[in-house]
Amino acid sequence: MRDISSTIGNSVVLSNVTSWRGLGINFYLSWYQAQKLFLSGTPTSTVQTFLQPFDWLSKLSGVYRSENKPMVQLEQRPVALVTGGAQGIGLGIAEHLLTIGWRVAIADLNEATGHAAQEKLAKFQDALIFVRCDVSQESEVAHYVQAAMEQFGQVHSLINNAGIANPYSGPVEELSLADWNRWIGTNLTGCFLMAKHAVPHLRPTRGAIVNISSVRAFQSEPHSEAYGASKGGVVGLTHALAVSLGPAIRVNCISPGWIDTSAYKHPPQQTNLNPIDHEQHPVGRVGKVQDIAEMVAFLLSDRAGFITGQTFTVDGGMSRRMIYEE
Ligand SMILES: NC(=O)c1ccc[n+]([C@@H]2O[C@H](COP(=O)([O-])OP(=O)(O)OC[C@H]3O[C@@H](n4cnc5c(N)ncnc54)[C@H](O)[C@@H]3O)[C@@H](O)[C@H]2O)c1
Repeated sequence: MRDISSTIGNSVVLSNVTSWRGLGINFYLSWYQAQKLFLSGTPTSTVQTFLQPFDWLSKLSGVYRSENKPMVQLEQRPVALVTGGAQGIGLGIAEHLLTIGWRVAIADLNEATGHAAQEKLAKFQDALIFVRCDVSQESEVAHYVQAAMEQFGQVHSLINNAGIANPYSGPVEELSLADWNRWIGTNLTGCFLMAKHAVPHLRPTRGAIVNISSVRAFQSEPHSEAYGASKGGVVGLTHALAVSLGPAIRVNCISPGWIDTSAYKHPPQQTNLNPIDHEQHPVGRVGKVQDIAEMVAFLLSDRAGFITGQTFTVDGGMSRRMIYEE
């Protein structure tokens, strides 16, 4: 396998460097200098020495088990399974994990968007595979996990993100059993099937699972019974798995609020948000895909080593607002 530690490996450090430029230090020069070193064919060891002073920055942002060695060889990097990773939040999670040095196996029902995701992430091609998979079908889940093992040899994390994201299933008297089962099958049974088939590979690596639920596990609008039930089930599945699988595997859950995924569609779309959409949130804005991706990366990292069985709401404070009509 080609050694890409001098390209992707160093971007592990540099991407974190750029994200900490708010500290008032001008890191653009460092990026420029490092690129010049790569382009001039400077040996990797020299470049690594050059970058050592920035190692503390990568520690701050939680690079997975690479505290003393951020620039690891491709085959030594941790591996994540990201379901529903072809677009939206899942694609953002996959992109973020690749950027901080993971290898990623994306699964998605939609083959066309899966290939579009591969194109978008082409610079990480040595660290990425896409497998078409319907997470509600056990044989397809087994095939996906097997494909990831064949490609990467091990698995360190599972992010259960695939879902029917539309919460509206219509009036309950008109909701067919087939439609109810569709929501439950993808959003809840899919998480169970993925855990079932990934756990044998996560035990030896002492890995972690992150399930993506929703604030709709706890709050509702009318006509969202199937979605709400499926996402509530994900919260329960999370703490049950955490108790069953500890101490080898930690299992946590994120409940996103309103996340604008328009930039992570194929092709990327313009956001269509009004000022009121942002202003109603206590933090003053609608959520970004990156907000969820950062939380996933933290929960997978050793910094979250004392956290399991928990559900974290990431909604800009929206669910803490008390709303009574005047
Ligand atoms: N966007 C939000 O505001 C928001 C809020 C709360 C929770 N969520 C949850 O986050 C997750 C991602 O949502 P999103 O907004 O990015 O949605 P999205 O529709 O943009 O992406 C979902 C992805 O899952 C895939 N998928 C659907 N069914 C599948 C199946 N059976 N097997 C494999 N892949 C399947 C889709 O093809 C798609 O690529 C979902 O679980 C959703 O319920 C989203």
